[in-house]
Amino acid sequence: MRNDIHMFVAANWKMNLDKKSISEFTKSLHKFKFSNQINSCIFPPFIYIDYLHDLIYNLPISVGGQNCHFKSSGAYTGEISAYFLKETGCEYVLLGHSERRILNNENNAEIKSRAQTAINSNLKVILCVGESLTNREEGKALEYIEKQINDCLPNNFKNLIIAYEPIWSIGTGKIPSAFEIQEMHSHIKKFVLKISNKNIDVLYGGSVNTKNIKEILKITNVDGVLVGGASLKAKDFLAIYSAAVKHLNTSL
Ligand code: PGA
Repeated sequence: MRNDIHMFVAANWKMNLDKKSISEFTKSLHKFKFSNQINSCIFPPFIYIDYLHDLIYNLPISVGGQNCHFKSSGAYTGEISAYFLKETGCEYVLLGHSERRILNNENNAEIKSRAQTAINSNLKVILCVGESLTNREEGKALEYIEKQINDCLPNNFKNLIIAYEPIWSIGTGKIPSAFEIQEMHSHIKKFVLKISNKNIDVLYGGSVNTKNIKEILKITNVDGVLVGGASLKAKDFLAIYSAAVKHLNTSL
């Protein structure tokens, strides 16, 4: 992230939006006045990366992949290489999303090797971590996230962002308290500094919407947001983006 700005708005479209809806979405983007204070990236389904990239190549919004394989090429039917993502115009890749950890059985060691391969292909990694409701209720959330980071963080990295996404908050409308988010984000930053000697940005993800964005951005150590459901409509995505611009301008 550039030093002069400090806010990231990421849109994880998951397995949503077809060609027609992407085309409609981007028409709204072209009418919008973007700020050079915000980094923003949209993560469309793999198959539409090229299509989206062509439609918004002249806008200050990056395109990213929702995952990548841990090998750069080879006999891996149905997989996508980090190198291909880079070649198709991606700047970022999301790794370790809880839906992939749960539904595709991705474990920490595998995510670490995906992250290292992505970095070797010059992609910027957004590494997702998040605890279950049981972990949170048992008071083990900080410890759980620490282990996830310890086991997933690649050995060498320059551009890596962590997205804290509690599993129980994704798509549920439930979000942690401001204290819980602040406590987790500062814990993550301190832990990464301790083990890798690097200062990193931490995004919050999980049920971010146009109504709660203002309060979430006010929380100390929140460097941006990773938005799922509320990023599927251009109007909502742009409202969240505008809230980030407003937040930066009022806190300057
Ligand atoms: P949500 O998803 O905003 O729909 O909760 C966030 C995510 O999974 O990245």
